[in-house]
Amino acid sequence: LVQTGPTSGISSVIRKKLMGYVGFANLPNQVHRKSVRKGFQFTCMVVGESGLGKSTLINTLFNTTLYPPKEPLAPAAERPKTVAIESIGADIEENGVRLHLTVVDTPGFGDFVNNDDSWKPIVENIESRFDSYLEQENRVNRMKVVDNRVHACLYFIQPTGHSLKQIDIEFMRRLHTKVNLIPVIAKADTLTDEEVAEFKERILSDIAYHNIHIFQAPTYDNEDEETIAEAEEIASKIPFAVVGSDKIVNTPDGRQVRGRAYPWGVVEVDNEEHCDFVKLRQMLVRTYMEELREYTNDVLYENWRTEKLLSMGVAQDSTVFKEINPAARMQEERVLHEAKLAKMEAEMKMVFQQKVQEKEAKLKQSEEELYARHKEMKDALEKQRADLEDKKRKIESGRPLTPEKASTGRKKGFLRT
Ligand code: GTP
Repeated sequence: LVQTGPTSGISSVIRKKLMGYVGFANLPNQVHRKSVRKGFQFTCMVVGESGLGKSTLINTLFNTTLYPPKEPLAPAAERPKTVAIESIGADIEENGVRLHLTVVDTPGFGDFVNNDDSWKPIVENIESRFDSYLEQENRVNRMKVVDNRVHACLYFIQPTGHSLKQIDIEFMRRLHTKVNLIPVIAKADTLTDEEVAEFKERILSDIAYHNIHIFQAPTYDNEDEETIAEAEEIASKIPFAVVGSDKIVNTPDGRQVRGRAYPWGVVEVDNEEHCDFVKLRQMLVRTYMEELREYTNDVLYENWRTEKLLSMGVAQDSTVFKEINPAARMQEERVLHEAKLAKMEAEMKMVFQQKVQEKEAKLKQSEEELYARHKEMKDALEKQRADLEDKKRKIESGRPLTPEKASTGRKKGFLRT
């Protein structure tokens, strides 16, 4: 037994022997029971060009028909012009353990003439899931936080046998800090063993060259040799060369297996000699599902959250108090929000005043113009009146008119004869 206690700030450790059974050795069982009762949530995204076997692989991985058989593709003209995001959810159960599985599909990715921005809606979707989680965390009542964050992203690489395409690199570069990337070589049964090995090498060197971080099975110092060896073996298979099939076929030696039957033989999905499907399932489901969830929460989400709050102006000096006290955090966020609102209000007022001043200046200018025009017209009329008065006076005093004036008078028909 190790006993610790603060002695002027320094923890002392005393080894003690238990006198009898206390019961905390049962803690792992308590945790186990609790998690089984609560069930688990896991969200997996699949990305890759159309027809690379994404739906088939998901059905194969979870041994269920999550994706019903597909309708034939619509003609190109009728297909959507942007990448869509579609989610399918299912509650599955194995030996009493319930898993709420969500698969996020991205139909349209890489299917257009210009695929430059194919990654954008996917990043936006992942970030909006982080946003929703952050919003739930900041609520007063955090009893029912639903974790819709994407815990893993299976990226399907076309089995070209060459190297990564620009779209693959761009996608992975944009996504690797936001999601656990798991690259897979789709339809690996279309390549020979040698081609798969060479293709994997080129993919890994491209990934390293572009500093792309892909999810690796973690190993801890205090882990047993077997676990470490398992993690190393899984790591050695990345990118997983997979074959998918939810059909049962007969092998030449009379076994019934999940696989794909060809005139020259059967490719068995669950046979490690044939493909890396088993290792992928180990990574995604059997051994590291919890690690994927934890890495998403502790690293990917945490980094995103820090960046987001910093961009909102929350200072990173936050003391432990602020970090662990939701009320203090909410208060801080409220103050920030109010400051933002006050700034917006001040800006709006300024713009309003500026507009009013401009309008007033314009009105004043047109008033002055009107006044000037009015004065001009008045002067002209005044002059005209004076001329006429003068003419009238001359006519009345009987003075003969000049020929010009006479003709004017005749035309008007009021000249005396
Ligand atoms: P979209 O939904 O259109 O994006 O297609 P998808 O990527 O979901 O592909 P889907 O699973 O519908 O498979 C397309 C075709 O490829 C089907 O005819 C599958 O039977 C076949 N297929 C799936 N997996 C494999 C594989 O591992 N190897 C081979 N050779 N064919 C496969």
